[in-house]
Amino acid sequence: MKNISVVGAGTMGNGIAHVFAQKGFQVQLIDTSSAALQKAEQTINTNLDRLIKKEKITLETKQSTLSNLSTNTNIRLGVEHADLVVETVTENPQIKLDLFKQLDKLTNNNCILASNTSSISLTKIAASTTKMDKVIGMHFMNPVPVMQLIEIIKGYETSDETTENIIDVSKKLGKTPVVVNDYPGFVANRILMPMINESIFSLFEGVAGVEEIDTVMKLGMAHQMGPLQLADFIGLDVCLAILNVMFDGFKNPKYAPCPLLINMVEAGKLGRKTGQGFYRYVSGSKELIVADRFKK
Ligand SMILES: NC(=O)c1ccc[n+]([C@@H]2O[C@H](COP(=O)([O-])OP(=O)(O)OC[C@H]3O[C@@H](n4cnc5c(N)ncnc54)[C@H](O)[C@@H]3O)[C@@H](O)[C@H]2O)c1
Repeated sequence: MKNISVVGAGTMGNGIAHVFAQKGFQVQLIDTSSAALQKAEQTINTNLDRLIKKEKITLETKQSTLSNLSTNTNIRLGVEHADLVVETVTENPQIKLDLFKQLDKLTNNNCILASNTSSISLTKIAASTTKMDKVIGMHFMNPVPVMQLIEIIKGYETSDETTENIIDVSKKLGKTPVVVNDYPGFVANRILMPMINESIFSLFEGVAGVEEIDTVMKLGMAHQMGPLQLADFIGLDVCLAILNVMFDGFKNPKYAPCPLLINMVEAGKLGRKTGQGFYRYVSGSKELIVADRFKK
């Protein structure tokens, strides 16, 4: 595998493109929005500078990483030479199904089609193509350059060969792959999202405030980040979409999203990416400020 196309240049896409390019793969980063591509290039640049400052990489590595990376708004041109496509567009089943139908036609027969979906059935995504054996989940964690895990999801028809290839490429990225089967939420979000949802219910029902809930989980359970801050970090729209997939998939009320989460998404308060969620984010500042609405 040499040529990697990453489709979607949002929170996850820039990180995925970054790690592949840094490890010497030729990367095409594709998005329908040129503004998203520009923002992704800026983020990659900033993150590479941060790695240089921490003496984790050299200036030469930064230069080679950037030279391995191209951007494209044209999907056909962006995937025509791909050995592997990693799709990481918006967590919306219809958008993903339409995209995989398109990728099936635009890529060569040997190309593996991976999805970074957090919860949508890989089997369903694969069924929108003519090569179900070559479709697999490659669930990176946020922030991609830092996090060690890749959850690999085997769809109902994913072949062992495809799985082995993806395990191999994950190791080449310096990551640790863990293979799981295709059920709603897989493992990571099946366990994480009910915790995040419950922390939002605790806030909604007035059990405690934002800081108290996050502090209990940080100091009491040794979590690096409280669940409300983590939800902001993931994106509240992404959290809601994942809970809805699990709620529909298991038909179990325990996954029903908290009404406060639904309201916040409707109001466009999506967390860090929009500058406000449970916390308020000031560009360039690391200070954690509780959003005015949740201040006591
Ligand atoms: N945010 C997280 O912490 C996280 C973690 C793991 C996995 N994921 C998954 O990664 C995927 C992307 O999430 P995100 O948080 O990066 O989303 P995001 O909203 O930040 O970015 C999505 C990007 O996809 C682009 N896009 C939408 N439709 C497209 C299309 N048809 N072709 C090309 N580009 C298109 C949008 O312009 C946008 O730039 C989702 O499936 C999500 O569940 C997210």
